[in-house]
Amino acid sequence: MRRTLTTLAAAVALGTFLIGVVHSADEEELSTDLMQSIEDTNKSLASNIATQNAMGATSDAKELNEMFSQVETFYVHKSDAVDAVELARKSKNLSAEIIRQVDAKAFDKATNTATDLSRACKTCHNFYKKS
Ligand code: HEC
Repeated sequence: MRRTLTTLAAAVALGTFLIGVVHSADEEELSTDLMQSIEDTNKSLASNIATQNAMGATSDAKELNEMFSQVETFYVHKSDAVDAVELARKSKNLSAEIIRQVDAKAFDKATNTATDLSRACKTCHNFYKKS
């Protein structure tokens, strides 16, 4: 009996702790460092596509793809941010498309996709960036 109560108390404590963690995750802001890296990598990507530097463009697009995965995960855990999840996913898909286009040396297409990607940044900022 005593053991059962201790276990129960431990379970309740753990539950409260977990709710706290989830709750604070909800309050959390998206890291500005992450966004700053996205900004730098996006600029580098644009110039690498413009100069037809396939290796550079591919590595930038891969980095963006991974960073947008993090953005997506962040918003998946946040309640009431369905559009942000969609936009992060869209950005991830666009960066994957750029990897394929650069691989096929289709730099014109990659330029257009990079423009769409920059549009997705702006759309998300309009809704979710406070300042
Ligand atoms: C899914 C939503 C979303 C997408 C997509 C997104 N951002 Fe952001 N971004 C935010 C939010 C929210 C903030 C404000 C919070 C913050 O600063 O992290 C922000 C902030 C920023 C900042 C300011 C960071 C600072 O130091 O204050 C920059 C720069 C930025 N984003 C660049 C980009 C670029 C470039 C892209 C596209 C390649 C992009 N973002 C795509 C949501 C997004």
